[in-house]
Order: sequence, then structure tokens, then C-alpha cells
Amino acid sequence: MSTVHLIDHPLVQHKLTLMRRKDASTNTFRRLLNELAMLMAYEVTRDMPLQDVEVETPLETMTGKAIDGKKLVFVSILRAGTGILDGMLSIVPGARVGHIGLYRDPKTLTAVEYYFKMPSEMHERDVVVVDPMLATGNSAIAAIDRLKEMSPKSIKFACLLGCPEGVKAMQEAHPDVDIYTAAVDRELNSHGYILPGLGDAGDRIFGTK
Ligand code: URA
Repeated sequence: MSTVHLIDHPLVQHKLTLMRRKDASTNTFRRLLNELAMLMAYEVTRDMPLQDVEVETPLETMTGKAIDGKKLVFVSILRAGTGILDGMLSIVPGARVGHIGLYRDPKTLTAVEYYFKMPSEMHERDVVVVDPMLATGNSAIAAIDRLKEMSPKSIKFACLLGCPEGVKAMQEAHPDVDIYTAAVDRELNSHGYILPGLGDAGDRIFGTK
């Protein structure tokens, strides 16, 4: 069974609370998501492999440690994943980026794919799939199903907010994919929204409502 990593750092929790407020403006919501994504990147990359590199300090030569950002791929589930992607890229600017376009069929709540673009040589790369909300889990599961066709070295899933139903669905479908989240809320409602949640993340990031 996969592990759910609850990112309970006080800064993460504080910013998440500010984002939940219904009167937070688009500008504020987007800025907070960006900051939160940077903090989450810190946790998600905690076990990234390091390699030895020779470095010349002003005094002598030494062997330091460096990560190979190019081996890391952030895969954004469109469109709301973009909100997390930007923050993560500012922490790991060398990372590659993939996009998966999925929308939720409003009647069935199942994920329908309309776009898929990944970097080359995915079998050599570690993947972090990003999407702010783990609600039904359908989009994340479908995205990871597709990614597994490319046999990446590893896959993690990072979101802002989950719910017990989404976590359970993900763990059943992909027991090898760890979940990183700032909170697991109470429940999913019949329209596929997380309660208490923060509303429609895409609409709040892009100001489309
Ligand atoms: N997607 C959202 O944006 N919000 C939810 O609460 C659930 C899914």
C-alpha cells in the first residue's frame, strides 16, 4: 500500500487555510498556491538521488552533492495542475515537464483524455504528477495509468487537498504511488467536490467563475 505524506509544516497549513477562504481573490489564491507548491516541492523531492560533483571553492577543490533535475519530470494534469507546476519549477528549474489534458465528464465524473505530451526517455525519469485536488481520484488514476505505459523509474502524486474517497481509490488503483498532500478533508459530495474543501481549484486559479 502506498504512503500518504501529510505535509503538516505550519507554513503549508497556514497558507492552505488562507486559500480556503471564499473571499480570497484570484490573485491571492494563485499567489498562495504558488508559495505552497514551492514548500511542497521541498517535501516531494526529499529523497531525490544525489550525485557527486567536483566543485572548486575559492580555497580548494571538493566533492559536493548535486541533484540531476533533468531526470525529474513534473507532469501537470491540465488545467489546474498548472497552478502547482509553476511553484515546483521555481524550486527545481531543471526539471522536465509533461502535460496530460483530462476533463471530468460532468455526468459520470470519469476522466476523458484530450492531450498527452511527455519528454523523451521517460523510462529513465522520476515523475511527480501534480493536480491540486484529489477528489474522486479518476483523473489522477487515469493520468497514472497512461504514464505507466511509458515505464518511468518512479511515480509520485502531489496535491493540495485530498479526501478519503480519492485517497482510497488511488491507493487501490496505484498502490505503488505515494501521495503527498497538505490535507485530507472530510468527504466528497455527490457533485464530486471535496468538503469542506476550497471550491473549484481551476476556477479559483484562473478566475473563470
Ligand atoms: N476539483 C476541484 O477543483 N474541487 C473539488 O472540490 C473537487 C475537484
